[in-house]
Amino acid sequence: MGYYLGIDLGTSAVKCILVGVDGSVRSSHSVEYPLLQPHPGWAEQRPEDWWDGTARAVRELLAQSGVNGGEVLGVGLSGQMHGSVFLDAQRRVVRPALLWCDQRTGEQCEWIEATIGRERLGQLTGNRALTGFTAPKVVWLRQHEPEHYARVAHLLLPKDYVRLKLTDALGMDMADASGTLLLDVAGRRWSRDVTEALGIPAEWLPPLYESNEVAGAITAAAAEATGLRAGTPVVAGGGDQACGAVGVGVVKSGIASVALGTSGVVFVHDDSYQVDPECRLHSFCHGVPGKWHRMGVMLAAGGSFQWWKNHFAYEELQLAARDGKDVYEYLTALAEQAPIGSEGLLFLPYLTGERTPHPDPQARGAFIGLNMRHTKAHLTRAVLEGITFGLRDSLELMKASSVSVSELRVSGGGARSPFWRQMIADIFGYPVVTVNSTDGPAYGAAVMAASGVSGESIASLCDRWIAVTDRTEPSPERREAYERYYAVYRSLYPLLKSSFHELAGLAGHK
Ligand code: XUL
Repeated sequence: MGYYLGIDLGTSAVKCILVGVDGSVRSSHSVEYPLLQPHPGWAEQRPEDWWDGTARAVRELLAQSGVNGGEVLGVGLSGQMHGSVFLDAQRRVVRPALLWCDQRTGEQCEWIEATIGRERLGQLTGNRALTGFTAPKVVWLRQHEPEHYARVAHLLLPKDYVRLKLTDALGMDMADASGTLLLDVAGRRWSRDVTEALGIPAEWLPPLYESNEVAGAITAAAAEATGLRAGTPVVAGGGDQACGAVGVGVVKSGIASVALGTSGVVFVHDDSYQVDPECRLHSFCHGVPGKWHRMGVMLAAGGSFQWWKNHFAYEELQLAARDGKDVYEYLTALAEQAPIGSEGLLFLPYLTGERTPHPDPQARGAFIGLNMRHTKAHLTRAVLEGITFGLRDSLELMKASSVSVSELRVSGGGARSPFWRQMIADIFGYPVVTVNSTDGPAYGAAVMAASGVSGESIASLCDRWIAVTDRTEPSPERREAYERYYAVYRSLYPLLKSSFHELAGLAGHK
């Protein structure tokens, strides 16, 4: 049988999967690499580590599955979005990439919005200048590391660096390019207006592709490094959100997805370009050719729960190690012991600043309403409820622009918990479904490869390969109870904003 290779270049690891021509996953393998945090709020990675990790992961995947490189019919790439890969004229890495979760560019975002005008920027790109996006990182480099800036000749996104190493070809797909703030998202082309206004050389930007277009072929050197066959086609792929949405079949109107990874994303497909007048949601090109999507991004969704586990789940970690089980099962069971609303306790999940609906790198987390009756069970439940309320904020923005949603497809680590899925259904007020494809963005990347190589459309492949496996209905009583807490949750950020900023200042997080 032939296979498609899906590669997802994540923030902690690269995950590679082999998908058969019938859509079934044959094998999966991940390799981790380090995250560099040289200052509070900074996040960087070495592109060389991405390539070494990917080459190793593909080699090991082929070895463990017994699949021959020659049986791989095509390769698709997904990756963490927005990261800035700066290359010189010889295509060598100039410095480590600044990542999507790096928060250093607050001043550069203000400068960009002042230079172009917030409204005009929204008209040109569909988006606001946000610290995670790529263009502010370029401006930061010009201001803070002029010696590096002077050497730059090419700007790529993380997965495009890996494609360059695989194929020797420069390129970027429109879905991922949308997160640079340099793309005319409506017109699906680079925005000359923006590059000129910001003084960013347009010649640094690579050719653009739709996600399922073939954008190169495996070189002899890459074949040697990975075990793939030289000449194997490699499609452009997409950012991890577009690939994740394709991977759960969010490729037509009416279906929204909630992806619970480190970040948390509420995502809807749009048949035509749609933009929120204040750009509180991101309006991006989709990985489906000629289509768009909108999304709200919470920076620390699973990340908040992971923080809670890392620092406050000593007993659960011990139990999980003893029983050989997942620690999150113990934590969600603990949360279930507390009632809805955690007896008057709310958690604000802005542990790494926030993006949607509060674009604020200095927003901070908080527990509000603590009293002597509260136990660890209440605090654990409050963390889950706070994350889910934060995601609901994005859905509210979508509803305000009359998006009609009939079901939510939930994916990512958090989707494994029936308790959390029920909480999402109750807080959002929509049925929550899971699907048979649980490999997230890597699966979407494989679908894109299959589409590019076979000529079948992405929508048709999703129809054939992806099926609903579980459905959780909201309960009207619980929904009503949550509504009252959600109203308080929404009131908190505006009340606390100036205190968050003062505290961030006192801690030297400027
Ligand atoms: C999307 C975003 C994150 C990263 C995580 O805009 O910033 O989802 O892509 O990998």
